[in-house]
Amino acid sequence: MSSAGSDAGLVLFSWRGCLFRVPEGVQPPKAGSLFFCRHLVVRPDERVLELGAGLGLAAVLLARAGARVVATDVVPAAVAAIRTNALLNGVEVDARVGDCWAPVAGERFDLICTNPPQMPTPPDRARADAAAAADNGGPDGWALLDRVIRGARDHLRPGGRLVFTIFAFLGRKAAFAKLEAAGLAPSIVAGETQGFPRLGYERLEHIRAVDAEATVPRDRVPASVERFVVQGTLPG
Ligand SMILES: C[S@@+](CC[C@H](N)C(=O)[O-])C[C@H]1O[C@@H](n2cnc3c(N)ncnc32)[C@H](O)[C@@H]1O
Repeated sequence: MSSAGSDAGLVLFSWRGCLFRVPEGVQPPKAGSLFFCRHLVVRPDERVLELGAGLGLAAVLLARAGARVVATDVVPAAVAAIRTNALLNGVEVDARVGDCWAPVAGERFDLICTNPPQMPTPPDRARADAAAAADNGGPDGWALLDRVIRGARDHLRPGGRLVFTIFAFLGRKAAFAKLEAAGLAPSIVAGETQGFPRLGYERLEHIRAVDAEATVPRDRVPASVERFVVQGTLPG
């Protein structure tokens, strides 16, 4: 057998009548991605931002539901994948490369949503590659989310919603406090029990050390983790 040239194969993901190409270097949808998408509610014609859109799963589904969608990612290959996947599914998504709020400076949305990188990361495990961008959330898991929450008020229309996922070990109370401090009314949209993430096992001691709300058992290896979809609403 020859393995010359581009012999990497083609990975596809199919869900809810849509087909997604999963290119090399872009994370395929995981349990958290599907949980996130299941709880995104959008009205036709609403202006939506998905921040950290990966291959564009939520962005494409929201566009198919009639929203006008901007989808961003800091990884250029992800943004190329969003464009490909929008084309593949016959929807329009305005895909932009950039860090956090930079690609949408001065713009406002009815819904801002993100399933951000949030795995607590010991300083000696920090890296700058695409896989790290998908998973690593800084020492306590909140590195990107803190910036998203702090900037949301300047990018939401009155009555607009910021919706994001968290692992329980980031802290439900912490999420509410951060949203309130940013002028957003917090609520839990949904909760789900998922298998404990593989990367979480590798970082179990670090996660226990930052788990201020004591959600991870100390006396045994956890089999599962609670995940939440959290919303912050800007008063109308
Ligand atoms: C956990 S993945 C989620 C991908 C996709 N939204 C999903 O639910 O499957 C997080 C995504 O955020 C992107 N990301 C990480 N840091 C970012 C940043 N500073 N600004 C924008 N996107 C970022 C990553 O490249 C990755 O695609």
